[in-house]
Amino acid sequence: MRRLERTRRWRVEHGSTDTTLPSCRPPARLLQQQMCNDPGVDARGARLTGTTVRPMLPADVAAAADAVRRGDWGDREAFFRFATGHPNCHPILAERDGEIVGTGVATVSGRVGWVGTIWVAPALRSRGLGRALTEAVIGELEGSGCRTLLLVATEAGRPVYERLGFEILTHDHALVASGRGTGRTLSAVDRSVRRFAIAEDLDAAAALDRWATGEDRRHILATCDGWVVDGAPGEVTAFTLRSPFGGVATVARDAPDALRLLDLRRCEAGPEGRVRAGVLDGNAGGLERLVAEGWVEVWSGPRMIRGEPLAWTPTGIWSQFNHALG
Ligand SMILES: CC(C)(COP(=O)(O)OP(=O)(O)OC[C@H]1O[C@@H](n2cnc3c(N)ncnc32)[C@H](O)[C@@H]1OP(=O)(O)O)[C@@H](O)C(=O)NCCC(=O)NCCS
Repeated sequence: MRRLERTRRWRVEHGSTDTTLPSCRPPARLLQQQMCNDPGVDARGARLTGTTVRPMLPADVAAAADAVRRGDWGDREAFFRFATGHPNCHPILAERDGEIVGTGVATVSGRVGWVGTIWVAPALRSRGLGRALTEAVIGELEGSGCRTLLLVATEAGRPVYERLGFEILTHDHALVASGRGTGRTLSAVDRSVRRFAIAEDLDAAAALDRWATGEDRRHILATCDGWVVDGAPGEVTAFTLRSPFGGVATVARDAPDALRLLDLRRCEAGPEGRVRAGVLDGNAGGLERLVAEGWVEVWSGPRMIRGEPLAWTPTGIWSQFNHALG
């Protein structure tokens, strides 16, 4: 219902005359923002004439992923597929002359919302489309009750976000390590680690995750499989959980558990495998220990925030699902 009200507001603010409202997730033609109807309004808007922003639907996924691939920004297909089917994700796209020329994904994790996968086709950059997509994602998140917005910025994205009031909170450091090559399951290697059992572990894993991230990511954890370390009965002290789109989140109360889980992931990966980790500035000790164990830092970028402060424990975070939703 709230979504429908937002839909109506967005349409009214942007002067649409179509009053038909969708009954659930709106079909593509309904929730649509015409970027500029009057080329005479101002030079910036005029450069976006004919570009519309609307929700990304499952039927759009292959074309959207293809556009992003051709725009040299990697393979987002599995993530778009997840996002178009997941109730807490609201993916959008920009369209021009029947081509997909931009994307964005809003993810609602309680009062915290993530701005992700803001991408504009190279030929249409510097016309304000990146800003328009980001504003649409922000509107979706704030309309869903998010009071703290987060994102991880690339160099190209950072000025767009700064102009929209985002500030640097910390930095993400992405690391990779090669697999150790046996392909054994974790439990065969380390008996204190066991399979994540959603029915028994979800509450405890979500509580641990909330402590570390300050977010309510139960909705994502419920879609994952992986491994947990037990604490007291009913307590999970560490987990490493793989999402359906492939990203793995690792969270731990204590560094030794995190290092053990990441090491076990390396053992689990075949000889050709690569494992990813991700730590924040506040976990300089963890970063040092990972590097000492052969992990290589491959990327670092600012994590930005807008809105209310985040109550979190960044030292508990050891890898991210991805940089679009943390
Ligand atoms: C980051 C990205 C989305 C920005 O998209 P964009 O459409 O170029 O963004 P905008 O046009 O809103 O803003 C970019 C710049 O154009 C300027 N601009 C906006 N409208 C303009 C206009 N009509 N005329 C001239 N300049 C304009 C903005 O002021 C901004 O200036 P800057 O280059 O000094 O920072 C795009 O570069 C991209 O897709 N990069 C690859 C993927 C990526 O890094 N995504 C970010 C993930 S965090």
